[in-house]
Amino acid sequence: MRAAVGIDDIAVYIPRLYLELADENRPEKPTEFSMARKSDPSKYLHGIGIAKMSIPDTYQDSAVLAANAIFELIERNNVHPSSLARIDIATETGVDESKPVAAYVHGMLEQKYGKGSLKRTSGVEYKFACVSTADALESSLDWAWAGRSNGKYSVICATDIARYPLTSPGEPTQGAGAVALLVKEDPRLLAIDPVIGTHMEDEDDFWRPLFSTTAVVHGKHSERCYLRAMEGAVDDWAEQAIASGIIRAGPGESLVDHVGPMSFHVPYPKMAEKAFAYLLRHFWRGLPRWKQILREIGEEPKADRYKKREEFEKAEADYMKLFMETHQFQTEYLDKVADGLVHARESGNSYSASEKSCLSMLLETKAMRGTDLAGKRGGSGNYGSGCKAKASSWTVREEWAATAKKFGHAEKLHHRRPISLAEYEILHEGKPFPDGRKFVAEPENEFVLVDVTSQGYRHYKFAD
Ligand code: HMG
Repeated sequence: MRAAVGIDDIAVYIPRLYLELADENRPEKPTEFSMARKSDPSKYLHGIGIAKMSIPDTYQDSAVLAANAIFELIERNNVHPSSLARIDIATETGVDESKPVAAYVHGMLEQKYGKGSLKRTSGVEYKFACVSTADALESSLDWAWAGRSNGKYSVICATDIARYPLTSPGEPTQGAGAVALLVKEDPRLLAIDPVIGTHMEDEDDFWRPLFSTTAVVHGKHSERCYLRAMEGAVDDWAEQAIASGIIRAGPGESLVDHVGPMSFHVPYPKMAEKAFAYLLRHFWRGLPRWKQILREIGEEPKADRYKKREEFEKAEADYMKLFMETHQFQTEYLDKVADGLVHARESGNSYSASEKSCLSMLLETKAMRGTDLAGKRGGSGNYGSGCKAKASSWTVREEWAATAKKFGHAEKLHHRRPISLAEYEILHEGKPFPDGRKFVAEPENEFVLVDVTSQGYRHYKFAD
């Protein structure tokens, strides 16, 4: 029998600066950002679901964010460096075309633990837009399931800075952050099922050419790619879950009835909410409860009844909104998904770090509320533009709550300061501050980028 392998602990690093898009208590009140972009703040809060975007300071890049998350994870768990077999990094905003973020992170950690302390620890950088974290995790799981971990741990860290051009439609979906996972046998949080679904295509929904610091995106197209790929990955997972017997749906039941808490890739909360609605429609069709829903909101639009594709897409979007208002959807959504989306509402997209930040928020919130999840099965859906989705499931361990209560995730979101639109635009464009300041907020016991040489080599240090 395979050993239970999975996630033992999670540490999230969130930059301490944020730009407010909408005031959550008074959504109608214009913000500096909404006025500058001649937009309605309710569109940010209710249309896409984002209130604040985390913004990195001048001394932060994806390597720094990762090192800070990993350092917290190692310290909190008193992990000795010699017990770390690998520290793998998932990112799509790496700092070099050749040297992986994993190597820079190695160097930063050795500044704390001693030169050579991690020389037997491997590391690599994974890239596939936001889904690369799932690939990195799968590789560590395979390594442990194959019996090669020999009692050692693996750390997976996802880190990214989501950046679109100023004033572009993608701009309100920016953000930044890193999330580090301790992966081991007999984990305290989640044991992951050896059943992982995949769907991959070559798509032009979102990419960042080598010459650009911001992404190019076909926004509406990317939403359709996300839904299609997620459905494909979940179908693949479902086939394997049934074949391996880990889940059996009885008469009138759907497989999703057997999956409780769920985390998704969250470019913005509305996207994950729509993905969940799309999956429920997919899995509920044909069940008695679906007949009841059809009685309430009418038949689903069918493509062959529309002359133009745009007309069908409009009817489909309208139908989705009706479904998302039903009490059947709302009950499932609030129970299984909504808690995790608070991270993206407060921080924005963090690309590869998004889904596991959603998972961290979900587990911490449920633990704080005293929800009993022990022994329950949950699921994760990752999406990466380009495009690929992965769907996986896991079982919550008996001792999960004590660990999740120590994440400090909500506290970190709270411990941030707002910046002005002018400060945000200077940071975004990498320009000097007119008043000569070198940064916005003083570093607080964390790794920082010191300089980049004329040859592009980067120096980092721990700022006490
Ligand atoms: P937009 O032009 O702002 O879209 O772009 P919109 O005008 O259609 O508005 C968005 C929603 O707000 C609509 O709701 C409006 O009705 C609503 P929907 O019809 O979609 O349900 N709205 C309002 N609601 C309340 N009050 C109002 C109001 N006004 C309008 N006053 C878009 C939105 C997301 C496309 C854009 O921000 C974008 O391009 N973002 C970047 C791409 C993206 O995030 N795509 C998601 C899927 S791809 C992905 O997840 C991968 C990614 O993370 C990258 C990677 O993998 O590496 C991006």
